[in-house]
Amino acid sequence: MEKLIVTGGASLTGTINVSGSKNSSLPILAATLLTEDQCVIRRVPDVSDTNYMLQILSQLGAEVERASGNVVVTAKEVSHETPYDIVRKMRASVCMMGPLVARLGRANVSLPGGCVIGDRPIDLHLRALKELGAEVEVKGGYVIIRVPHGLQGKEINLRGKFGSTVLGTDNLMMAATLSKGTTIIEGAAAEPEVVDLADFLNKMGAKVSGAGTRRVEVEGVGELHGAEHTVIPDRIEAGTFLVAAAMAAGSNLRVHRLRADHLTAVIDTLRACGHEIEVSGESTTVRRTESPRGTRIRTGPFPEFPTDMQAQMTALFVVSDGISTVVDTVFPERFMHVPELQRMGAVIERQGNTAIVEGGQPLTGAPVMASDLRASAALVLAALRAEGETQINRLYHIDRGYEHIDEKLISAGAVMRRERV
Ligand code: UD1
Repeated sequence: MEKLIVTGGASLTGTINVSGSKNSSLPILAATLLTEDQCVIRRVPDVSDTNYMLQILSQLGAEVERASGNVVVTAKEVSHETPYDIVRKMRASVCMMGPLVARLGRANVSLPGGCVIGDRPIDLHLRALKELGAEVEVKGGYVIIRVPHGLQGKEINLRGKFGSTVLGTDNLMMAATLSKGTTIIEGAAAEPEVVDLADFLNKMGAKVSGAGTRRVEVEGVGELHGAEHTVIPDRIEAGTFLVAAAMAAGSNLRVHRLRADHLTAVIDTLRACGHEIEVSGESTTVRRTESPRGTRIRTGPFPEFPTDMQAQMTALFVVSDGISTVVDTVFPERFMHVPELQRMGAVIERQGNTAIVEGGQPLTGAPVMASDLRASAALVLAALRAEGETQINRLYHIDRGYEHIDEKLISAGAVMRRERV
């Protein structure tokens, strides 16, 4: 196991390049199972979640090659049974269900693990597959899915009590590509990663329209073929670096290879705090104000403020003057970063799905524990700003989703090192 030791106080300057999106790569890699032809996926980030996904694909029987961000998958033969020992490590393995059911008419998928961010059910995924004609049974920790009479497209309302579901929309879209007739997904997730998957599916010969809106239409086709695709930039990694620059005193940082249109809610919030943000093509530059003020955020489905940026923005509010309010409507329990930030001196009161931050407090380095992917990123950001040294334990959480985060931050002037424990 490794820990990260950060010495606070350095400014971030220069340029950081954003990697390809983890959350796009995972369902797109799963979608390569929909054809026996070769697929080439470019800019897949080298993080442990994509590594787990490639391990799952090879254990299912696909040939997988990876060389510097390019992944080549050929799934001539595919088994319907996903391995528990890998699936338990990553919740996104749930998106194997759609492609397996479409390609083989059956799937045994171990119930997923992943980030500990509260209750994360998959009822909407299962309901959607049932509506297409699948029979679903949950037994011995596995979801066992069979399709006795083929998948038949229909109109399905995928809205849940917490809004739309990203991977649920992905699963249904993938299953519907090879179904008979047309599937209409009402209440679909409109996240950029859903659009990226739809683009890839269309390159494979699928007929998906409306991705990026709440109503997606999938006209089933007889078969799909191989395709090449470059995944979109990781908006959450990019947003994390934008917030890092707003945290670290004296920063003037250019974040390159990002899609600012995927980050509007984050950029608007940073501007509301007083930071100067300049968007120019694929680059966004943050010039930190020395008198930042807090504001309020409320997470929601895209294009609202992303829940995956909530922890990082909470850390920023800790060092911004005034009272800030953070409401997470997507994952109401996602506040594991709060007690760790408190250890560093943050003043935060939690009330249900809301955190109230009394900003402008000095942070001091402390030993802290990474608890999930984005909460760990928030601790790294707080450590950049804190006086003295912060030790972030359980670094594997952050390596699940950030490609070489320490190297990238060091290249911009941050002071940190990894140590084995
Ligand atoms: C994806 C992202 C994750 C992000 C989340 C919300 C990937 C790999 N992960 O996760 O980083 O935080 O979107 O933007 O892309 N829900 C149900 N029933 C279901 C499914 C979901 O009630 O069957 C609820 C969830 O508990 C949550 C909300 O719906 O409250 C949204 O979750 P969902 O969009 O499904 O998250 P993921 O797709 O798993």
